[in-house]
Amino acid sequence: MLDERNYFAPFSQENPPRRVLDIATGTGRWAMEIGDEFPQCQIIGTDLSPIQPDLVNPNVKFYIDDACVAPPHPLLLSPVRLPLSVQRTARH
Ligand SMILES: C[S@@+](CC[C@H](N)C(=O)[O-])C[C@H]1O[C@@H](n2cnc3c(N)ncnc32)[C@H](O)[C@@H]1O
Repeated sequence: MLDERNYFAPFSQENPPRRVLDIATGTGRWAMEIGDEFPQCQIIGTDLSPIQPDLVNPNVKFYIDDACVAPPHPLLLSPVRLPLSVQRTARH
């Protein structure tokens, strides 16, 4: 469906995203691939389940968080983290 692409936003090495939030990241594969492609970008992946690997690039962080419960994880409200330039939700 996505034609093997991770995103359709007009990002490139010349125009990289700065911050990415991947809600319901699952295994974190997408977040890690974005982290590999854009090493200067900060990526946060959140999920209910702790099924993400421990060993990841330093620009990728995973947090356990329920997206349906307010308020969201305090780190997601931090001025350091926001505004997020890209948000992604679960495909399903
Ligand atoms: C089908 S997986 C999708 C994983 C990943 N986003 C992808 O596209 O490969 C759905 C994920 O949503 C997570 N999830 C479901 N409800 C959630 C909620 N309320 N808050 C955070 N994560 C949730 C599940 O734990 C699961 O890992």
